[in-house]
Amino acid sequence: MEYRTHSPAETRALGAALARRLTPGAVVGLNGPLGAGKTAFVQGMAEALGVEEPVVSPTFAILCVYEGAVQLVHMDAYRLEDADDLESTGFYDFLDGRSILAIEWSDHIAPLLPEGIIRVAMAPLGETNRIIHIEGVDKLC
Ligand SMILES: Nc1ncnc2c1ncn2[C@@H]1O[C@H](COP(=O)(O)OP(=O)(O)OP(=O)(O)O)[C@@H](O)[C@H]1O
Ligand SMILES: [Mg+2]
Repeated sequence: MEYRTHSPAETRALGAALARRLTPGAVVGLNGPLGAGKTAFVQGMAEALGVEEPVVSPTFAILCVYEGAVQLVHMDAYRLEDADDLESTGFYDFLDGRSILAIEWSDHIAPLLPEGIIRVAMAPLGETNRIIHIEGVDKLC
């Protein structure tokens, strides 16, 4: 499905709507250029999952874990090259069905990810508009 948002708040709300549909074990891959709103979308997911800690870009940490009603694992795959890199983040330990995973730049490691992940593709359209395609769940709103 395709969605359009017109502000960061609307992108967060869409992320929240997606998160409310998910069950533990879900993996969400987010792609789109720098500043597309991937982190904003994950901030909305976190809100819906009851995470109180502020969600920041995981660029330097690569993987951040947030406790909520469901644990949220937020990753940035931009700098990951291969399965060893991915393994060293602890990623595979979080595929135990207890967490929801959100991976920015997931296309970088697409062959290493489980099948059937939910894909969020984001494209800027001017300063504040974003086109967001979400595949793998029914229409959100
Ligand atoms: N409709 C919108 N949705 C999301 N962000 C928006 C929107 N309009 C403007 N913005 C701005 O775009 C930027 C999005 O930043 P964000 O960190 O979420 O992007 P990103 O895709 O995670 O980038 P990066 O690849 O650097 O991690 C923010 O500065 C935000 O305020
Ligand atoms: Mg980001």
